[in-house]
Amino acid sequence: MAKAKTAFVCDDCGADFTKWQGQCSECGAWNSLKEVRLSSSTRSSGEGVLKGYAGATEAKIQTLQDVSLTEVPRFTSTMGEFDRVLGGGFVPGSVVLVGGHPGAGKSTLLLQSLCKLSQSHRALYVTGEESLQQVAMRAKRLGLPMDRLQVLAETNVESIVNLAQQVAPGIMVVDSIQVVHLADISSAPGSVSQVRECAALLTRFAKQTGTVLILVGHVTKDGTLAGPKVLEHIIDCSIMLEGGHDSRFRTLRGHKNRFGAVNELGVFAMTEQGMKEVPNPSAIFLQRAEEIAPGSVVMATWEATRPLLVEIQALVDSSHGNPRRVAVGMEQNRLAMLLAVLHRHGGLMLGDQDVFVNAVGGVKIMEPSADLALLFALVSSFRDITLPRDLVVFGEVGLSGEIRPVPSGQERLREAAKHGFRRAIVPAANTTKEKIAGLEVIPVKKIDEALSYI
Ligand code: TYD
Ligand code: MG
Repeated sequence: MAKAKTAFVCDDCGADFTKWQGQCSECGAWNSLKEVRLSSSTRSSGEGVLKGYAGATEAKIQTLQDVSLTEVPRFTSTMGEFDRVLGGGFVPGSVVLVGGHPGAGKSTLLLQSLCKLSQSHRALYVTGEESLQQVAMRAKRLGLPMDRLQVLAETNVESIVNLAQQVAPGIMVVDSIQVVHLADISSAPGSVSQVRECAALLTRFAKQTGTVLILVGHVTKDGTLAGPKVLEHIIDCSIMLEGGHDSRFRTLRGHKNRFGAVNELGVFAMTEQGMKEVPNPSAIFLQRAEEIAPGSVVMATWEATRPLLVEIQALVDSSHGNPRRVAVGMEQNRLAMLLAVLHRHGGLMLGDQDVFVNAVGGVKIMEPSADLALLFALVSSFRDITLPRDLVVFGEVGLSGEIRPVPSGQERLREAAKHGFRRAIVPAANTTKEKIAGLEVIPVKKIDEALSYI
């Protein structure tokens, strides 16, 4: 049966149609359908990508039970934080998309990983954005081993695949998917049809040869990857490198992973010597004194993209004159509100007391999850009771004294468990079905319930 030589692809979502229509019936965008000429390579093998997934030369039907279960052999990226996000390392034949804003450090991270990997594996770094000199200069400056890494400056996908076939790499990076192109397709590099066809061709190569393929992808202004729908089902693993312009910390987060969990987080710092792993980010902020005093409690806050454990301190002392309310690193208004809630629903009168609160380490906490921890710190200082060292607290306190859930409860609890906390007092709605080893989670619904634990 003759196959259509052209298709209509939506520029917004990547859905394809055989006929032109004014509105994309997948995403509802108007006038977004573009005619694309299918490349000969895609046509010749039909649904080539899917064929590639099977990996077998002869197809046969069998029961699921008969599928031989050999443990997926993984190899390390040479960085523990990277491996964690990947679910334990690279799986041969898998396709990993590393996304992020320009300047996030994608090229640096992958170059570091590949240079080190090249000592034990055949590794190929294809650069389409930077020249070979730029790549070499960076590797030299970072003091990376340069003797074994194969490099190629090329943007034509067909020649990339042809040359790669000769080298037969175990791992290959294509930096980036937005600059590579197929000569057959008339649209510009980075367009949906180019990204789609190039990714399909590269993926087929990876699946057939068992090469680990890493595609670098830039995110657009609205935070999505160019041609997201197109790449979504082709790739096995999608990882985002995120980080603010004002911060040197970068987080690596899995968004999709066929070989592991997606809620793993890797933390790096961009330094003079490139990307440095930060295996223990909470430890930076969580250096507690040997003897903890009343008025101190640890909370799990959410900082941009990761959980962070921060110590909250409060000092409540009888006032001489006008009572003072001072909040450092937290909102003054929230403190005033909490004191009112504490009085009205907790029956605790602090009207004649000076109140000082502080988030240790110069952290600024701008989210309501600090409420419950602040409440504990206040009562602990007022009553002069030391709270247990292994206790972590978070939750929002509502005006009627109810304890409200906060986002990413599971990640916060995991982070606490990772740092040796054994007890957590959290909003009832944040308790998870899934238990976290070694952590006792105590759910609370109302403020009086919470106060009874002190
Ligand atoms: P890069 O890896 O080129 O980002 P991407 O590939 O995601 O666009 O990183 C570029 C930024 O990193 C650049 O702003 C400079 C900074 N940088 C350092 O601070 N230290 C270093 O050692 C390197 C190599 C880069
Ligand atoms: Mg780059």
